[in-house]
Amino acid sequence: MTEGRADIALIGLAVMGQNLILNMADHGYTVVAFNRTVSTVDEFLAHAAAGRKNVLGAHSLDAAVELLERPRKVMLMVKAGRPVDDFIELLLPHLEPGDVIIDGGNSHFPDTIRRTRSLEQQGLLYVGTGVSGGEEGARRGPSLMPGGSPEAWPLVKDIFQSIAAKTPDGEPCCDWVGEDGAGHYVKMTHNGIEYGDMQLICEAYQLLREGLGLSVDELQQVFAAWNEGELDSYLIEITAHILGHRDEDGEPLVDKILDAAGQKGTGKWTGISSLDLGVPVTLIAEAVYARSLSAMKDERVAAAQVLTGPDARFDGDRDAFLEDVRQALYAAKIVSYTQGYMLMREAAREHGWHLNYGAIALMWRGGCIIRSAFLGKIEEAFDRTPDLQNLLLDRYFEDVVTRCQPSWRRVVTQAVQLGIPVPALSTALAFYDGYRSARLPANLLQAQRDYFGAHTYERVDRPRGELFHTNWTGTGGKVASSSYNA
Ligand code: 6PG
Repeated sequence: MTEGRADIALIGLAVMGQNLILNMADHGYTVVAFNRTVSTVDEFLAHAAAGRKNVLGAHSLDAAVELLERPRKVMLMVKAGRPVDDFIELLLPHLEPGDVIIDGGNSHFPDTIRRTRSLEQQGLLYVGTGVSGGEEGARRGPSLMPGGSPEAWPLVKDIFQSIAAKTPDGEPCCDWVGEDGAGHYVKMTHNGIEYGDMQLICEAYQLLREGLGLSVDELQQVFAAWNEGELDSYLIEITAHILGHRDEDGEPLVDKILDAAGQKGTGKWTGISSLDLGVPVTLIAEAVYARSLSAMKDERVAAAQVLTGPDARFDGDRDAFLEDVRQALYAAKIVSYTQGYMLMREAAREHGWHLNYGAIALMWRGGCIIRSAFLGKIEEAFDRTPDLQNLLLDRYFEDVVTRCQPSWRRVVTQAVQLGIPVPALSTALAFYDGYRSARLPANLLQAQRDYFGAHTYERVDRPRGELFHTNWTGTGGKVASSSYNA
């Protein structure tokens, strides 16, 4: 291989990095592989990439960069956080203006905004891209959500779109998301929605397991059947597979897994961003808290000895309840995606991004963890109304929620009576009822704020923006506190 002939270098040969290289090589690109622990490069070339002429190893960053055609493209698949900054620092002396650094990790979007600005000031281009789909996705076709320096997009577009998953219509699940941190923001939101979808499935599982007393085998069949209908999705599909998986002793493995959830932080970031932007993304927040509560295993075991509740066994029409749970799950899922899209819309306003919401649905349609038939419906909704304000107001979703609503209410009511926690299913319903309320009790809340803190209020019979303060007790002053909005 002569100098300057490779298309891209990839740094970080953990499983995602290795699989992306093999995927790129399958699509005819020449890729340079580099890893900080250099022996990993040799192992990769000797085994996983053995016999591939278009995968080249490099034993130093200098050597990796030397092999690249100009403008050079270097993709980092290293741990988010400090390692990304460290590699950027190490790369800088070897790069020149116009070269592109790509970060494919789950980086926090403010870091990507900062890095894009800093590298652009130095004449380089930066791409922060979401990569979803796990190991298998990286190898066979991930969903890619690139953002950063717009001038970088034409330089990476062909590679990205050829290695990306394709929708059933053959379109790549990858498009330019927007400037600086937009790609990583959309990936963060994807992960938050992933948390929500997983929590909803877990709530359905617990309702059917404990409420109906279904066996793991019966549950496996239920989820497999659900995957044939409108809930058709990767997460429902793998749930059926998980439920069918036996441990070495022949018992269902799922029963032996400790009920204490882990998390790496992307769901939490989504919740924090929603609080920062003032968008009620309640379902994802509940999904994060549900993981936190599950992780308090020892405390829960102790509390279970002391605190009482109703008997968790349902004694009504079992088939009807099963169908109710399916419909409740679908309706709550619609609310979760509605909230996720509300969040992206507000973030776009805040950061000056021009997000294409239909294109985001298309990017998530295949390859990623939340891929589903349902995302095709979201794409159709944005095709119908490109400036759709809220997914719930699209006629398809409005119809589904109307159809599923009686089931959804029965399930939440039943769960409360059985003492089975359904934080995601119930918060979705509370959001739905709040969102469709022309009048909420915030009039009283404003009166309370004004009462104790002279925070002022607006009146229904006066124009918006006109502020009033009442001397509620007769002892307070006429002076209102300065108003501020968090
Ligand atoms: C993906 C996944 C991936 C990762 C999650 C896991 O899109 O491929 O979301 O990014 O598996 O970050 O997150 P938790 O460890 O927080 O569940």
